[in-house]
Amino acid sequence: MLNLTHYSDDERFQTVRFTVNGTSLRLAIPPTMLLIDLIRDVLNLQGTKPGCYEGECGACTVLVDGKAINSCLFLAVNIDGCSLTTIEGISTVEKPLDDVQELMIKHGAVQCGFCSPGMAMSIKAFHAECDANPLLGRDRESIMKAIEGNLCRCTGYVKIIDAAEELLSV
Ligand code: FES
Ligand code: FES
Repeated sequence: MLNLTHYSDDERFQTVRFTVNGTSLRLAIPPTMLLIDLIRDVLNLQGTKPGCYEGECGACTVLVDGKAINSCLFLAVNIDGCSLTTIEGISTVEKPLDDVQELMIKHGAVQCGFCSPGMAMSIKAFHAECDANPLLGRDRESIMKAIEGNLCRCTGYVKIIDAAEELLSV
């Protein structure tokens, strides 16, 4: 278990324990730090993109205990005890691209790519939800609802929905 500790003399720092992409961490962080800043600036995982910082664009979407959340609206101290997955955590050495990423490429759903990590994480969360609950709709309308918090200024969404539809069909 990797156990990184960023202790500070500042008593206002809070210690959090969590896993990120399967690795256990213990860190002392300021109580006002946002999760996106912890991810990008402390953990140096820069695949998660900073967009609006207001919960509007979805570029910063990550999974906390499997649920898609906007990391710009989430206080980092609340990650204590949770499992955090960022875009870096969905690939492995053996499989450098997750199925959702392969399908997004196949369908031409990536143009500038700024929205793509957040979009992929929202689609992954929806896929897992559908697997856990076979009664959930997997139609295009349900996919649109699942990614409604993720803005894409390039693709017009059709190709992204095509990719998600194929992912959900297997
Ligand atoms: Fe988080 Fe836009 S940066 S929703
Ligand atoms: Fe450019 Fe979505 S591909 S914002």
